[in-house]
Amino acid sequence: TQSFRITLLPGDGIGPEIMAVTVDVMNQIGSQLDLSFDFQEALMGGAAIDETGSPLPEATLETCKQSDAVLLAAIGGYKWDTLPRHQRPETGLLALRAGLELFANLRPATILPQLVDASSLKREVVEGVDIMVVRELTGGIYFGEPKGIFQSETGEKRGVSTMAYTESEIDRIGRVAFETAQKRQGRLCSVDKANVLEVSQLWRDLITALAADYPDVELSHLYVDNAAMQLVRWPKQFDTIVTGNLFGDILSDAAAMLTGSIGMLPSASLGADGPGVFEPVHGSAPDIAGQDKANPLAQVLSAAMMLRYGLDQPAAADKIEAAVNTVLDQGYRTGDIMAEGMTPVGCKAMGDAILEALA
Ligand code: NAD
Ligand code: IPM
Ligand code: MN
Repeated sequence: TQSFRITLLPGDGIGPEIMAVTVDVMNQIGSQLDLSFDFQEALMGGAAIDETGSPLPEATLETCKQSDAVLLAAIGGYKWDTLPRHQRPETGLLALRAGLELFANLRPATILPQLVDASSLKREVVEGVDIMVVRELTGGIYFGEPKGIFQSETGEKRGVSTMAYTESEIDRIGRVAFETAQKRQGRLCSVDKANVLEVSQLWRDLITALAADYPDVELSHLYVDNAAMQLVRWPKQFDTIVTGNLFGDILSDAAAMLTGSIGMLPSASLGADGPGVFEPVHGSAPDIAGQDKANPLAQVLSAAMMLRYGLDQPAAADKIEAAVNTVLDQGYRTGDIMAEGMTPVGCKAMGDAILEALA
């Protein structure tokens, strides 16, 4: 039996609901494929603030560092929205990414044929879409200095965030993106705002220079405003997209809607070595929390990404993805991916259907 240490961070809102479903799925896969998962649950986000005062307690980061992979659900909620920035759940998430040096965030947007009609776009636009967004995750305007709310000379307050990238930060995310594109259709689109921002000019220059090392990849560039428009106009033009932290955050939510719901999108956050963090692209959905309405599939598919990219268990990942496919074929739909005339199932019932499909 191969054994893996996995830290679970259920977090807030719908987090614990979708995590519970996913742990059941992992345990069933484990017993079928003779893998054993040693789950350690730890506090993170609002749940951690309530218990310890900190959104990412030292003990949680330590537990994560000691594990083979980290499975995170979602953090945040109204209750903590008015806390000072350093105490907010979101700050804990940024500290986790920085603490584990997870500079590369892979966010696949793949349209499953069963859900084509759940998209808000026309069938012919979304059918067959298969995009990988490679988002830089530990730099850019999320982390640049100076940052803060300062008193200006005129007595006015001045809010400051700084978009900055160093050569080495651009180089390492660029390499991940080119290598990702090599394993896919071999087309890479780099998204920036080089017509206005110096930081983007450096980004474009360095990504362009990197292309020489990857002659088999066809590189193109788009300004981010145009990229947002192209994503909804004709998403099939994209294979792999590489972009900075903020643009990647925004474009991946837009890409999510191509698939019918943000409740479908998993992600993998990876560093040079050490454990990765695997989490849905969506947040804690406080508007539907505690009502058994959440779509658990982004979380379940994040576990599949964990098995594939973090634990080198592609067979287990394949099985989970196949089971998700089966339940969608069988017509199971949570409210967010329901087409007209369908009856929604809850989060738990969706989980049970996956367990049955696995068995
Ligand atoms: P959100 O992604 O939580 O929700 C946006 C909308 O999508 C809501 O209507 C929600 O009900 C719906 N939705 C999201 N996930 C769903 C699912 N699995 N099934 C069905 N519907 C789903 O974004 P928001 O409302 O802007 O943010 C809520 C909180 O989550 C905030 O505190 C935010 O900071 C936080 N957040 C956390 C993460 C994370 O933990 N990685 C990501 C994004 C937002
Ligand atoms: C995401 C979220 C986070 C981000 C927030 C909650 C810090 O929106 O994972 O996409 O902006 O990266
Ligand atoms: Mn986001």
